[in-house]
Amino acid sequence: MAKLIVVSNRVSLPTRSGSRAGGLEVALRAVFNEFPGVWFGWSGRVVLRDAIETRTISGQNPTFIVTDLTAADHDEYYNGFANRVLWPILHYRLDLADYRLRELTGYLRVNDHFADELHKIIAPDDTVWVHDYHLMPLAKALRERGHRNRIGFFLHTPMPPVEILTALPSHERLFPSLCYYDLIGFQTETDSTNFARYLVSECKYASRDLTTFLAGGRSVTLGHFPVGVDIDEMQNWAARGRDSPLVQRIVDSLGNRAMLIGVDRLDYSKGIMPRMEAFEQFLVAHPDWRGRTTFLQIAPRSRIKIREYVDLEGEVSTTAGRINGSLGQADWTPIRYINQSYSRTALAGMYRHARAGIVTPFRDGMNLVAKEYIAAQDVADPGVLILSRFAGAAKECLGALLVNPYDKETTAQAIFRALTMPLDERKERYRTNIENMRKNDIADWGAKFLGQLNEADSELSLFADFPLESNSDDTPERTVTPRQRLQS
Ligand code: UDP
Ligand code: G6P
Repeated sequence: MAKLIVVSNRVSLPTRSGSRAGGLEVALRAVFNEFPGVWFGWSGRVVLRDAIETRTISGQNPTFIVTDLTAADHDEYYNGFANRVLWPILHYRLDLADYRLRELTGYLRVNDHFADELHKIIAPDDTVWVHDYHLMPLAKALRERGHRNRIGFFLHTPMPPVEILTALPSHERLFPSLCYYDLIGFQTETDSTNFARYLVSECKYASRDLTTFLAGGRSVTLGHFPVGVDIDEMQNWAARGRDSPLVQRIVDSLGNRAMLIGVDRLDYSKGIMPRMEAFEQFLVAHPDWRGRTTFLQIAPRSRIKIREYVDLEGEVSTTAGRINGSLGQADWTPIRYINQSYSRTALAGMYRHARAGIVTPFRDGMNLVAKEYIAAQDVADPGVLILSRFAGAAKECLGALLVNPYDKETTAQAIFRALTMPLDERKERYRTNIENMRKNDIADWGAKFLGQLNEADSELSLFADFPLESNSDDTPERTVTPRQRLQS
């Protein structure tokens, strides 16, 4: 029986306690509700090389297959190349990228290790769906091991323009290897077009439409598939969460003050510090709001072994402390800044109580928090989303107050506008957001991607004029839905 194998660095192991922030994990958990299968990834364990194990945790959906890393792997692949080189580059932060050849080697080694372990479990009809920047060269490694399966890739982060991509030393060893996938998915059309331009200008690959490319005798298709949220689930959680003891305690502690909420992993791409400074500017410009509003910033720690993240934590807590010290009063703290993470059910209740959600990343592939905030609102009395124009979500959340996060003055004005917006306008904006979000909810995301992956090699006909060397004898069932294919 053909199966779906989803591969990502992080997996959502049921044995792990507590809630962890991260959009990839949230989105993939939802995919398995529609498409049962296997979730392969890192176990979260760091061990000596001789002690590396790959374990199967079955008996539920998905079946987890997880493998260990050595300390060198973890350091070079995860902390190093993935998160100190690729993450900043993909978020347009060349200034933070710290490239070392040793770390690229470690990154490729771990991709080979994943491929070796996957090689043991992939059957010829399986569909493989690989996720995110940790695993860009994985399809190449699998093809080298003889796998001709349909293999798709989805990038959860932004894909920057060619001028930024080419600043990565050895970029030609990495980005072109994405063409060993059959389908490459991005969050937005801009991301897809940026990569298409890279393939044209750097690889000289032929394309008629900047969507399907002939790359070294193979065909690869690019597409955009914005990740969504489960709107009904969020609405239910929000309605119930509002009465939960935790949310009640928060509401009681606020008194009648209006709450503004921000929820982000503590990451420099999220723009948490300038957001706090914008809130400060709002309070300075509107002293009558002092004591009448509270900004709750939830920011769970992330990637804690990486220097930039340690530095950020110090800077953000200093900023929060400075603002609270200078503007706070004995009975009022302007910013409540906490590093604890909360379950999404608890967050839903908090979102619903917040008069405004503030989501101001400098760059973000999508940003699920923005969509969750909208989904959690009360239709009859919705709050307002203040959203960075540089988040992928801005393409759909057109009813948000869109801001440039580099412009604190305008962000401060947006905070004022959100807190004073008349009900009719709030409802109108909410309607625009929710209608757009319904076009791409989380169930559609998996179905659309896997549907197109299932069709991927039919695109070869586009290249009838080109000499094709391989990949043309594979004529699987093309009209079945991805669900039928996976269950057949
Ligand atoms: N999240 C959570 N608990 C927290 C903070 C965040 O469960 O304390 C979830 C949040 O609800 C969202 C995800 O983590 O689903 C964050 O995804 P997003 O796309 O906003 O950003 P990412 O962390 O993936 O960059
Ligand atoms: C982003 C990335 C994911 C990652 C998540 C949390 O959403 O796109 O790949 O899982 O952040 O980061 P972490 O390093 O904790 O997995």
